[in-house]
Amino acid sequence: LPSGFVSVSRLSLVVVQSAQMQPDTHVYMFVCCVQVQDYLEPFRLSLEKLQEVSARATPDGTGSNWRRHIWGHENFLALDLGGTNFRVLHVRVVEEEQKMLKMDSQICAIPQEMMLGTGEQLFDHIAACLGDFLVSQDLKGHTLPLGFTFSFPCEQKEIDKSILIRWTKGFKCSGVEGEDVVKLLKEAIQRRGDYDIGSVAMVNDTVGTMMSCGYRDQSCEIGMIIGTGTNACYMEEMKNVKRVEGEAGRMCINTEWGGFGDDGSLRDILTEFDVVVDETSINPGVHTFEKMISGMYLGEIVRLVLVRLAKEKLLFKGQTSKDLLTPNTFQTKFISEIEDGLENAQNILTKLGLKWDDVDSRVVRLVCDTISSRSARLCAAALATLANRIRVNRGLDHLKTTVGVDGTVYRKHPNFSKELQATVRLLAPKCDITFLVSEDGSGKGAAMVTAVAQRLALQSRLLEDSDGEDEDEEEEEEEEEK
Ligand code: BGC
Repeated sequence: LPSGFVSVSRLSLVVVQSAQMQPDTHVYMFVCCVQVQDYLEPFRLSLEKLQEVSARATPDGTGSNWRRHIWGHENFLALDLGGTNFRVLHVRVVEEEQKMLKMDSQICAIPQEMMLGTGEQLFDHIAACLGDFLVSQDLKGHTLPLGFTFSFPCEQKEIDKSILIRWTKGFKCSGVEGEDVVKLLKEAIQRRGDYDIGSVAMVNDTVGTMMSCGYRDQSCEIGMIIGTGTNACYMEEMKNVKRVEGEAGRMCINTEWGGFGDDGSLRDILTEFDVVVDETSINPGVHTFEKMISGMYLGEIVRLVLVRLAKEKLLFKGQTSKDLLTPNTFQTKFISEIEDGLENAQNILTKLGLKWDDVDSRVVRLVCDTISSRSARLCAAALATLANRIRVNRGLDHLKTTVGVDGTVYRKHPNFSKELQATVRLLAPKCDITFLVSEDGSGKGAAMVTAVAQRLALQSRLLEDSDGEDEDEEEEEEEEEK
């Protein structure tokens, strides 16, 4: 072996360490374990494979129309349900000219039993949290418009009417699928009877993210979330939106790309571990793409691979631990921490009750890196499809656009955003994409959509009134002619 190569025979492991680099800085380690690689190989998707995936990802979905807003009201409430936490927010427009927004918010936990309980319990809990928040903000007695960021697949009938198609991300409350969630929220508030809310605007978190980023950068035309779940929305030409009348302008489409692959179109790249994750989830058979990508599932994929490698005696001298064998104990945030440093890996393995050696910790880091990297590259494949679609829609040779992004995986993982961006550049070379991390899209964005909705409602009321006046005038003229 050339100098600098260290061979560890137990795992046929070859470690290459660059002699020139400082051991305590970015020591570049390339770990190649023939047998471990057998299990990791199916996670490594070539550029050609990603191009195929990207070509299969044709956007389709429901969405809501939006325009550049002008603030009408000064105070908004917002509810944000669908991420790691449930939040209640009070958004205030402080200085219209400077586009300044101030926000106060409160996080309310949603206990696991409630996520699996009845819809009535869930909405009563939401209404109770909102009630407490209004008291703490001294807002009781005020009837404020409310932006409801509800980040689950819905069929949006109107701005304040949205039917839940199905729960995702660990929620499974009975009696909500197929129902209008705005109605369920209003009914829960009425049951309490101690406060009221104004008009409601429903938004998906991707739309809120795109809106809030569009506030800073007008060329933001895609909103993307890579957190507990994953999804994206983008601006589509109205002429391509068959469900809505009219050809002019653009409309925001919520792609619900988490459901990509539910028709079997990703079967060739699913690993045995993805199949187990799906089968043991509370919604088997759906949201295939999300289960390969998002924070709700990445930790569990890693755990399953580690258990298998241990069983094959490729890790931890063939031993496991109670924690490692318990589903969902390997949290997705461990992946970020482990990839951040070997010492973190070792601490986490110790906390999981595992007996590790140096090689084990490196192999675990390799597993984490492989699985998070697949996630970033798959997101890039789907995003490249959207960007290319916008470009082709507009007959452009080259598109310059901005993607508003949010989500813990994108924000917190040390390499995720870099890998995603680099892969999109390869898959969509004719698109020059700027990534803008959203500043609270679910709160601010929801308030913005609420403001737009209010303004549009006001405009259409004014129009109706002026139509009425015209009619009156016409009638008067007809009378005079007679
Ligand atoms: C939901 C989407 C949401 C995404 C990110 C998915 O599970 O279906 O509506 O945008 O998670 O929160």
